[in-house]
Amino acid sequence: MKHIAVFASGTGTNAENLIRHFRKHPHCRVNLVLCNKPGAGVLDRAARLGVKSMVFTRQDLYETGRVLNLLKEHRVDFIVLAGFLWLIPQPVLEAFPGRIINIHPALLPAYGGKGMYGRRVHEAVINNRDKKSGVTVHLVNEEYDAGNILFQEECDVLPGDTPDTLAERVHQLEYEYYPRVVEDWISQQEA
Ligand code: GRF
Repeated sequence: MKHIAVFASGTGTNAENLIRHFRKHPHCRVNLVLCNKPGAGVLDRAARLGVKSMVFTRQDLYETGRVLNLLKEHRVDFIVLAGFLWLIPQPVLEAFPGRIINIHPALLPAYGGKGMYGRRVHEAVINNRDKKSGVTVHLVNEEYDAGNILFQEECDVLPGDTPDTLAERVHQLEYEYYPRVVEDWISQQEA
C-alpha cells in the first residue's frame, strides 16, 4: 500500500474528495492530513472520514523537522497539496523528490506566484477580462506554483461572473480531475 499525505490550510473540500477517491483504492490510501491552521475545516472532514490529522506550526515545518518526522513515521510515499499556502522547504523536497504535487485554480503560468491564491486569483482573471480559466496540476519545487505542469483543464469565464461563481466552476473541475491526475501520477512513479 502506498501512503499519501494531504497538506491543506483551509476548508478541505479537495482533501475530502481525495480521501474518498482513494478509500477503496487497492494500492493507495490517504493516511495523514497535515494542516497549519488550528480549527480549519479540513480537520473536521478528516475526523469524519477517519483519517488521522495533525496541526503543525511554522517551526515544525521550517526549523525542527517535526513535519518530516511525521511523514516518515506514517510511511508517507507521496504528498498532495490541496489548498496549502506555505512553501515546502528544501529538506522535505529532498526527501520526496518528484513526489509532491499541487493544484492551482488557474491556468499557470498565469495567475501564479506568491500571494496568488483563493479569491485573488479569480478576481485577477475577471479583472483582466480573460475568456478562459481552469486548473493546473503541477509538481512542487522551491518556488510558488513553478514546478513542471502535469495537467491543465480549462473552463469558460462567463459574462457576469463574480470571483465566487468562477471559483465554484473551477472547484468543480478540481473535484473531477485532481484525484484522477494524482492516481495516474502515482501509478507512473510505480511503473
Ligand atoms: C482550491 O481552489 C485549490 O486549487 C487551491 O486552494 C483551494 C482549496 O480549496 N490550491 P478547498 O480547501 O479544497 O475547498
